[in-house]
Amino acid sequence: KTIYLLNGPNLNLLGKRQPEIYGHETLADVERDCAALARDLRLGLETFQSNHEGAIIDKIHEARDKAAGIVINPAAFTHTSVAILDALNAFDGPVIEVHISNVHKREAFRHHSYVSRRAEGVIAGLGTEGYSAALRHLAKLLD
Ligand code: DQA
Repeated sequence: KTIYLLNGPNLNLLGKRQPEIYGHETLADVERDCAALARDLRLGLETFQSNHEGAIIDKIHEARDKAAGIVINPAAFTHTSVAILDALNAFDGPVIEVHISNVHKREAFRHHSYVSRRAEGVIAGLGTEGYSAALRHLAKLLD
């Protein structure tokens, strides 16, 4: 079984962008750690990051045939994108939503998520550890 690990806009700058909020680990570090964990969990992992809403939607469509579950940090699109919600609703497997920061401690515009309506679970504020927690949980759900 393969999991898609999807990251939205500006997360390509992880580790360099506002490290006081998002930490010093880079996206490459996160993807490497998740790939190792997925191997231990006997899952395949495909990673994808884009700054473009449509590219993320296309990847979710691809997941319909290729992935058993999705871990997604939609970044700012969390708070704006009905289109990403609709794409996830067209996917059959479990979805876990991850935020590195605790969005509820931050500006009010970060408190609402369109994607949460579709997610089995939402992780926020655990830093980049949230991604591995999400993978572990998906492994259980798919067992
Ligand atoms: C984020 C939180 C979002 O509000 C923000 O736009 C991001 C990252 C997080 O991981 O904490 O880009 O999803």
